[in-house]
Amino acid sequence: MEKIITHSAQETKTLGQAIGQVCRGGEVFYLSGDLGAGKTTFLQGLAKGLGVNSSVNSPTFNILKIYKTKKGSAVKSFCHIDAYRLIGAKDLEALGIKEILADKDAVTAIEWAEKVKSVFPKNTIKIKAKHITDNEREFAIDDKR
Ligand SMILES: Nc1ncnc2c1ncn2[C@@H]1O[C@H](COP(=O)(O)OP(=O)(O)OP(=O)(O)O)[C@@H](O)[C@H]1O
Ligand SMILES: [Mg+2]
Repeated sequence: MEKIITHSAQETKTLGQAIGQVCRGGEVFYLSGDLGAGKTTFLQGLAKGLGVNSSVNSPTFNILKIYKTKKGSAVKSFCHIDAYRLIGAKDLEALGIKEILADKDAVTAIEWAEKVKSVFPKNTIKIKAKHITDNEREFAIDDKR
């Protein structure tokens, strides 16, 4: 388990970007932490590191959004899910989560992951975001691979 404190949203994006840059495809990220803890901000950086050019926003209203990465990227797509409004894992199964998680060219990240625990494979990368002060956030990273 590694704990990193960031001091701005930009620093959090840079952390996410560094992690995105070393992904090879098939990685699954489990994001937990309170409202405003920095999950989406982290994933905006992660997406950039994967090679996504378009801006990643909170997918709260559409639950699941798939972004294509730019040509030549190791990872072909990024699937961003926000489980906040879901009741449980069955809701994600209806959206085809099994097929998405099986795609070795894709990286998937799920916010409010604790709501849909049972969909995660064993080799999940768990990230717990925590609000410390106005501008400080802690990211506890537990890589189960
Ligand atoms: N060090 C920091 N890291 C990340 N965000 C920060 C930091 N400092 C301040 N912020 C601010 O905190 C907010 C984090 O919001 P963000 O949408 O990333 O949280 P979230 O965990 O995804 O929340 P939600 O549960 O609502 O989806 C943003 O407004 C961001 O600018
Ligand atoms: Mg969010």
